[in-house]
Amino acid sequence: MFLVTGAAGKTGNAIIQALTAKGESVRALVFRHNQVALLNQLGVKEVVVGDMLNQELVNEAVADVRGIYHICPNMHPDEVAIGQLVVACAKSAGCERFVYHSVLHPQIQAMPHHWHKFLVEEHLLDSGLSCTILQPAAYMQNILANWHQILTDGIYSVPYAAKTRLSMVDLEDVSEAAIKVLREPGHEGATYELSGPDVLNQKEVAAILEEQLQRSVSVQEIGIEMWQEQAKNSGLGDYRIDTLSKMFRYYERYDFLGTPKALAALLGRTPGSFAEFVKRNL
Ligand SMILES: NC(=O)c1ccc[n+]([C@@H]2O[C@H](COP(=O)([O-])OP(=O)(O)OC[C@H]3O[C@@H](n4cnc5c(N)ncnc54)[C@H](OP(=O)(O)O)[C@@H]3O)[C@@H](O)[C@H]2O)c1
Repeated sequence: MFLVTGAAGKTGNAIIQALTAKGESVRALVFRHNQVALLNQLGVKEVVVGDMLNQELVNEAVADVRGIYHICPNMHPDEVAIGQLVVACAKSAGCERFVYHSVLHPQIQAMPHHWHKFLVEEHLLDSGLSCTILQPAAYMQNILANWHQILTDGIYSVPYAAKTRLSMVDLEDVSEAAIKVLREPGHEGATYELSGPDVLNQKEVAAILEEQLQRSVSVQEIGIEMWQEQAKNSGLGDYRIDTLSKMFRYYERYDFLGTPKALAALLGRTPGSFAEFVKRNL
């Protein structure tokens, strides 16, 4: 049995689907009772419900598992404390394998949710657990949050300059690689950067959308203040707005680039391109 934390989010769902497709039994840690049914639909038999900062709950979650895939909730202010707790509980339970879902370039202090992951990585490496760290680029799937506007209005809006270049990765490729390192030997102590094959500026992203969707799509730079106002109106909390704003400013200033080499080696093929991702989601 494998434990997946952060199981009800988009990453958790994708990892669990990949694991259950291989016939693995999974225990899921979710935050709320109303998330249990979704996990059952994905083939999960055991679900532990509650706060990842609760030691008793985490001890219950890690008991008697073969391996742990730790996903911290996105932009959680207590990511370091959560990481330390999950690692400590894994250690006292005698867990054999620990995979941490980190992020591409965690060492960047200007982005707090990256820097927190860097501190968790350090703690994990110091723990003596048999661990592997995965560092995915931004998911292609993030664009689905704006899918309706893209399809109906032909507008792809971004809170940074259109010239900003990003590496992205298909979450399905991340999941395929993730379950390999969790289930197969030979990845102990490794850290892998997971990026897709394209490095695209936002005009190039719009051009691919245009070609695949067979309709005009133009980039709209909305500016950070406008984005913050929209995010607040949609109910996003202050910490997340602040953290995301720092990330967008970083992207605009420095770009955010990785290479597909490690992911290609893990998958044994070229990772999926953005064009292929769009085609699949039509
Ligand atoms: N999105 C990307 O492009 C990307 C790229 C690389 C790495 N990552 C990393 O991937 C990780 C997962 O992101 P995600 O968007 O899939 O996750 P997510 O949806 O934000 O969170 C996963 C789940 O954690 C739950 N949760 C929140 N607070 C909790 C708590 N205190 N205790 C237990 N569970 C709690 C959430 O429940 P509620 O929904 O009920 O709050 C949610 O179901 C993040 O660490 C992120 O930084 C993301």
